[in-house]
Amino acid sequence: MQCREHLFKILVIGDGKVGKTSIVNRYANDKFSKDYRMTVGVDFTMKVVQWSDTDTVRLQLWDIAGQERFISMTRIYYKEASGCVVAFDVTNFNSFCSCINWKKDLDSKAMLPSGALVPCILLANKCDLTDWAVTKERIEQFSQEHGFIGWMETSAKDNKNISESVRYLVDHIMMSH
Ligand code: GTP
Ligand code: MG
Repeated sequence: MQCREHLFKILVIGDGKVGKTSIVNRYANDKFSKDYRMTVGVDFTMKVVQWSDTDTVRLQLWDIAGQERFISMTRIYYKEASGCVVAFDVTNFNSFCSCINWKKDLDSKAMLPSGALVPCILLANKCDLTDWAVTKERIEQFSQEHGFIGWMETSAKDNKNISESVRYLVDHIMMSH
């Protein structure tokens, strides 16, 4: 049986405070903190996953600062990305609208070696909160209109759909590999 190892660079982008660092921290360390510590620049996390009997996947997660003042750096961070997570906060309508700009920013600065767009999943984070500012129908429509491979509601706090959403994205990357 042949064993294969894959290394994928996964970007995590979206507005400040939507929960990008929390998603990565839940996924990689199974931890959550309710305190906010702004990411400065970018943080890296590596996670090795036994994907199947034959395949090992090394995920290099690039947790990119979402606050406005850091956005000029994105071109450098996006280089050679294999996949991307675009996250918003379901209680913050502006952060939902911003996902268009994040997706456009990515598509204008990065592509796969084949020339295809970097596969991107949309995450509706903080789904544990009740005061949603956008409907699921609207998110579904938005996801299709703007070329996401799909969307999921997630909660880094309650550990809902975190590993599932990463698996969905990485499965997609593996299929087109
Ligand atoms: P920047 O680094 O500034 O870009 O922010 P970020 O997107 O990394 O946000 P971060 O993960 O730091 O989370 C911001 C705040 O939201 C923190 O207080 C978190 O505890 C909180 N938070 C993150 N995810 C969730 C979630 O799923 N549910 C709830 N209720 N709160 C969350
Ligand atoms: Mg952060």
